[in-house]
This record gives sequence, C-alpha cells and structure tokens, in this order.
Amino acid sequence: MENFIYHTPTKLIFGQNAITNLPDILRPLGQRVLLTYGGGSIKKIGLYDEVKRLLADFKVFELSGIAPNPKYDPSVLEGVRLCREHRIDVVLAVGGGSVLDCSKAICAGALYDGDPWDLITYRVKAKAALPLVDVLTLAATGSEYDSGCVISRTETNDKVGYIDEHLFPVASILDPRYTFSVSKKQTAAGAADAINHVIEQYFCATHSDLTDGMCESVIRSLIKNAKIALEHPDDEGARGEFMVDCSLACNGILSVGNSPSGWPCHGMEHALSAYYDITHGEGLAILTPRWMHHILSPETTERFVSFGTHIFGIDAALPAADIAEQTIQATYDLFTSFGMPMHLRDVGIDETRLAEMAHHIAENEGLDNAWAPLSEADILSILRASL
Ligand code: NZQ
Ligand code: ZN
Repeated sequence: MENFIYHTPTKLIFGQNAITNLPDILRPLGQRVLLTYGGGSIKKIGLYDEVKRLLADFKVFELSGIAPNPKYDPSVLEGVRLCREHRIDVVLAVGGGSVLDCSKAICAGALYDGDPWDLITYRVKAKAALPLVDVLTLAATGSEYDSGCVISRTETNDKVGYIDEHLFPVASILDPRYTFSVSKKQTAAGAADAINHVIEQYFCATHSDLTDGMCESVIRSLIKNAKIALEHPDDEGARGEFMVDCSLACNGILSVGNSPSGWPCHGMEHALSAYYDITHGEGLAILTPRWMHHILSPETTERFVSFGTHIFGIDAALPAADIAEQTIQATYDLFTSFGMPMHLRDVGIDETRLAEMAHHIAENEGLDNAWAPLSEADILSILRASL
C-alpha cells in the first residue's frame, strides 16, 4: 500500500423520508438558501413542492435550468451572482450530478472576488466555499459524496474537473424513491459511469486484496442492481443499493493506498461531452472496451485476469491472454445488455473532429502519466476504434 490520507466529511442520510431531516441540517448553516435544480424533473416527481414545504421557515432563492454537462456560462456565473446579491448562507442542490456539480462551483465562486474560472482551472486556490447540502435524484456520479465537480465551457470546448476539499457537501440526502422516475437511458448511463469509476481505480499498478475486494464487490452490486432497476424502475431495494454503490464508487475509499491510475477513460470522455454535449455515461460505455483493448499487454494482463475471473466468472484455468480477451468482450457485452449505444456514431460523433479532440485530450488531461500511458496517437487510435 502507498501512503494516503482519506477524509470524507459528508454526512450521508439514506432511506425513506430522509428528507425530513432537511430543516435541521440547514438551520445551523443559515437562513438564506439558494435552491438549485435542473430542467424540471424535480417538479414532476413532487420533490420541489416537498422541499418548499420543508423550507417554509427559510428565505429561499432559486436557480433553475441547470443543464446536463453543466455550463459555466450561464449557470455557474448566474448562481454566483445570486449568492452575492442575496447574501446566501447555504446552497441546496436538488437533482443529479450536473445540478450538484454546478452548485459546488457556485459555492466556491461565491466566496471568491475574481472570476470563478480561476478556481476551476486551479489558477487560484479557494480559501473557502459556501456550505452545500443536496438531495440526490439520480444515482451515478458520486458527486454527493466527493469533493469534485465537472464544469463545461462551450466556447472553448473545455470540460474541466475541479477538485477541492471545500467542495464536499455538508450532507447528502439519499432517498431511492426519488430515482424511480429516472429513464432507462439515464439509469444505464449512471450504471456505466459508476462501473467505470471503479474500473478507473482497479486498473493501476499498486493495489491490495482489500481494495480489489471492495472494488469487485461494488461492481457486482452495481451490475446486479442496475439490471433490476432497468426492468423494474420502482424496485426500492435495487435502486437503494445502487445509489449507495454509486456514492462509494467515486470518493476514493475504494482505492485507499492504491497508486494513481490517471482516470484515462474520464480524461477522454470529458472531451467527447465537451465537444458534442453527449451523456457522460454513454461516452464511457463506448470508450471503456476500446481503451481496454488498446492497453492490453503482457504488463497489464494481470489486471484483466483478476477483473474477468472475479467479476464475470471467466474460467481461471484458461491462458491469461484468453481470459483478458474474454474480459474485454464481457465488458462490451455488459454495456450492450444495458441497451447502451456502443459506437460514437450512435451518439452523433463522426470522424470530423477526432484528431482535434485527441490533441485537446493529450494537451489537457495528462494521460501520458496514466498507469498505461497514452500519447496523442494512442488517444486518436482509441477514438477511431470507438467510431
Ligand atoms: O434537469 P432535470 O430535469 O433534473 O433532468 C435530468 C437530466 O435531464 C434527469 N434527471 C435527474 N434526476 C431525475 C431525472 N429525470 C427523471 N427523474 C429523476 N429523478 O437526468 C438527466 C441527466 O442528469 P445529470 O445530472 O446530467 O446526470 P448525472 O447525474 O449522470 O450527471 C452527469 C454530470 O456529472 C459529471 C459528468 O461529467 C456530467 O457532467 N460527473 C461528475 C462527477 C463528480 N462530481 O464526481 C464524476 C463523474 O465522473 C462525472 O464526470
Ligand atoms: Zn464519471
């Protein structure tokens, strides 16, 4: 194991009616609340009304319309403006990863005098951020239990991951019933995202029996419960376990003491969704098997063997090279079984900008330092294989 510091200050409040805790969580944080949400799903499921009722004693301001792949302009900038104008004490994000991510950037930007983009791009380190509380409605990203956010800037095709200790939510409310209405497409994308989060931590140089076991357990649970949720969207048990899997999949606990992997599939996918505004989990489902195929070598085979035998039950007596090939095919087949698009063309991406994206990724994502290093030529080859 390598040295590590693990610290997650976020309180997870899970289960039916967890939302009734909201007033008690918010009260010590202040009276003036900025309620942030997306395009209206929370109104359709009655959650907006429920939140407003619980916040009757608070002064509530609102920022709505936060889009998937949340945009710096207008959403982050507008949120920061509202926080300053109304002297907001606490931000309450109600939605999926995009609403939470946008709200994290708002929390940091609100307490910074300059352009919040300075913080997001690490030109300036945040000294503080407004407190964030969230009610999660889509299980996928793990934003509710980590200190990261991902913000897009359309005019420069940037989609930037911003991680800072000030961005951990104070508390996250997880009631699986709020996720019953998540579509098949978004459920599958959420599953692919969370599965990939674990893969990004599993495929690395230094790992332990402990971290391998935790990762494998979370992936098996994700696969099992995603399949149930796709068939039976209102299966509370499956939606609930899936939700907790997703929270644990991205906050670092699964890779304590592991060496860094470089998160190569995320580095590549962020460019796809920056250039084409595609759904993050769909981009990952397309890229992951192609990335696996590209990096398979005698040096990396052991990870494929471990993954394939423990996750897919591939016969451990087979030659290692065969197990590795079968593992890649099984990963592809898994995402296919979720009904996901498995080619870039299926999500509206053709050859036109592949070279430009490969260059952008190579310049910005540091994948030449990944566990299996990727040059610009490697990245382009993976993108082409994904067409
Ligand atoms: O906008 P509304 O109307 O709420 O609709 C959303 C949106 O259209 C809908 N939705 C959410 N909850 C729903 C629902 N529809 C019906 N019923 C519900 N209960 O789903 C659509 C997608 O929502 P979004 O928040 O974009 O999805 P997700 O949670 O997958 O978030 C994706 C974003 O998170 C980033 C991704 O890059 C992407 O920008 N990520 C954030 C990470 C983090 N903070 O740690 C890590 C991830 O790797 C990822 O990069
Ligand atoms: Zn992700």
